Amino acid sequence: MKWLCSISLLASLTLNPALADNTQLPSPNLPRDAYVNALLQKMTLQEKIGQLRLISVGPENPKSAIREMIKNGQVGGIFNTVTRQDIRAMQDQAMQLPRLKIPLFFAYDIIHGQRTIFPISLGLASSWNLDTVATSGRIAAYEGSEDGLNMTWAPMVDISRDPRWGRVSEGLGEDTFLTSQIGRTLVRSIQGAHPGDRHALMTTVKHFALYGAVEGGRDYNSVDMSPQRMFDDYMPPYKAALDAGSGGVMVSLNTINGVPATANAWLLKDILRKQWHFSGITISDHGAIKELIKHGVASDPEQAVKIALNAGINMSMSDEYYDRYLPGLVKRGEVKEHEIDQAVRHVLNVKYDMGLFRDPYNHLGPVGSDPQDTNAESRLHRDAARQVARQTLVLLKNRLQTLPLKKQGTIAVVGPLADSQRDIIGSWSAAGRPKQSVTLLQGMRNAVGNKATILYAKGANITNHQDLVAFLNSYDHAVDVDPRTPQVMIDEAVSAARKADVIVAAVGESQGMANEASSRTHLTIPDSQRQLIDALKATGKPLVLVLMNGRPLALVRENQQADAMLETWFSGTEGGNAIADVLFGDYNPSGKLPISFPRSVGQIPIYYNHLPTGRPYLAEKPDKYTSHYYDEANGPLFPFGFGLSYTTFSVSDVALSNPTLKPDGSMTVSVTLTNTGHRDGGTVAQLYIHDITASVSRPVKQLKGFQPVFLKAGESKRITFTLDANALKFYNQQMIYAAEPGDFDVMVGLDSARVKTARFTLL
Ligand code: BGC
Repeated sequence: MKWLCSISLLASLTLNPALADNTQLPSPNLPRDAYVNALLQKMTLQEKIGQLRLISVGPENPKSAIREMIKNGQVGGIFNTVTRQDIRAMQDQAMQLPRLKIPLFFAYDIIHGQRTIFPISLGLASSWNLDTVATSGRIAAYEGSEDGLNMTWAPMVDISRDPRWGRVSEGLGEDTFLTSQIGRTLVRSIQGAHPGDRHALMTTVKHFALYGAVEGGRDYNSVDMSPQRMFDDYMPPYKAALDAGSGGVMVSLNTINGVPATANAWLLKDILRKQWHFSGITISDHGAIKELIKHGVASDPEQAVKIALNAGINMSMSDEYYDRYLPGLVKRGEVKEHEIDQAVRHVLNVKYDMGLFRDPYNHLGPVGSDPQDTNAESRLHRDAARQVARQTLVLLKNRLQTLPLKKQGTIAVVGPLADSQRDIIGSWSAAGRPKQSVTLLQGMRNAVGNKATILYAKGANITNHQDLVAFLNSYDHAVDVDPRTPQVMIDEAVSAARKADVIVAAVGESQGMANEASSRTHLTIPDSQRQLIDALKATGKPLVLVLMNGRPLALVRENQQADAMLETWFSGTEGGNAIADVLFGDYNPSGKLPISFPRSVGQIPIYYNHLPTGRPYLAEKPDKYTSHYYDEANGPLFPFGFGLSYTTFSVSDVALSNPTLKPDGSMTVSVTLTNTGHRDGGTVAQLYIHDITASVSRPVKQLKGFQPVFLKAGESKRITFTLDANALKFYNQQMIYAAEPGDFDVMVGLDSARVKTARFTLL
């Protein structure tokens, strides 16, 4: 096969006159390997090094500096530029180079939408609905590619069991199975049939690896983990998303058992390339190569470059080091040119896959086709955003059916997040514009029209702490502070509440509190807002808390005070309309938590799929010498998979097709689900397993299947899952991945805490 390839390459080299010319690109009709080989042969070392550089447009690199770099062939890809005009100007410049004219690619952090902003990733995961997730992915890719982009730094599939970490907002929760399914769906929906298609983007799975397990939840901190936990729990989502065909992977900033991922040949070569057969491109995270010095694994910049390149970092993000030091390192033989060739090959491969060699303007079109107004309303996908957003809202509490609200009487809408256009679109809101987002207040006004009176008062600032405000406003002006005293603001809100039949208070975090570099040691709602809630509660009026936040919060107190609580995350451009749909019952909530909500920060890490312990605590038979806290319950306030509806559901006993499972066979697990209430509604059937006795202790529960189900009032449906031995496999002490014969519990429920169980034996 190899031999045949080289013959055809030889033939194309001699037959194609363009190839004889070392200043021109090969014929785009060549297949990828032949094309890239032919191109590599024409490139100088300097040109090769240029291809390995990814430069961000921003204050550190203004457009004029970037233009110089392009002119000098010092850049392979550009990110943080989002209009066709800007992108076209840069690509034009690459096309004017005297030699080779290798097109640039353009990337951006399109995490949850480009112009139309969808709910943050943790919210999307709360839909537990892969079709919904795919809709958001397709539209993000459509809008990104319409803006001329080729690549997105997404999906982020870092498992996290630590809500102190601000980046849980960007991830898909605590569970391996759910994150793997959603990560794979995002790759497929964003890349489409082919990443070079007109309305597709190439994806970059991040952050490889284990970034969500930073110690203490402190961003950029170290990770130390057993191999079993690594490969059973944390690695599968990366693998699933890469196996789905992602063209790129971004390497994380943390160390793994002492070695930074950016310097980790075991991670980037042995695991990623040799074991997983990943053939796309590896990209370092922002400035990560420089950071090898601070990590203490490189003594100077030159050594950092040598380590990173040799470890398997293909492209360096926002680092001038590759440009500065690789030529000398190659000259002295410390970095072999074939290692550089290997890295460049990956860059050229992805450019080929993006279709850029066929047409460097394939996501730009002709000059005259650029939109007159980049921010035009007509470029948004509002209907889809609203449909998606309402499926991501999770009803946590609904005492005495406080919700849904009636569109009549007087409603007091209060809280610092009730009318914040910036906050509702969340962090990493790409090219989304706050001005185009619908707040809760606006959404409720839209919903009631003139049928009800809505009174509004801000009631409190996000926080009264000047230091926190300064932190939140340090890179851009994200938080507006109302200069009135806290008491004046509370009084105004209370006076509105007294006139109303019901209070809807939007409380939680501002978007900047749940972002990169936004770790917290306290998970409660800030005091300014707690004081507001206390005062509202004291009015005796029904109190609905609409929570906006990017991480699980500790809500014990609020859960006692509120009559109803709706978790809305940061729900995007159409968030306000979507929340109003749920509050007024125009949509029956169906979201489920993708991550446990702790009672207190002291319980962290808290996750549903923990191991049993030798001294489990039994609430019905408490014993001092068991595994528990004496000042707090063990369990979460709201468990993984939890979410209420305006209707009720029942789950029948679990039926198995067979009490035994052969190692190469499969079985079905079924239940009947009934809507026992008076409204149509959706929920999610969740299947968990537990390996009762094995060579290593196994989690008390592990999600292995889920199905969103919609049932009309009174309707029943048989739900069937198929299970085979693959779902029962794990890494044993010798790191052998296998299922062990013996008894298993299989559980089905509508959350991870309340399940029906059956037992079977793996033969
Ligand atoms: C983040 C990445 C992001 C990159 C580019 C880094 O600081 O860790 O997630 O893709 O910046 O914006």
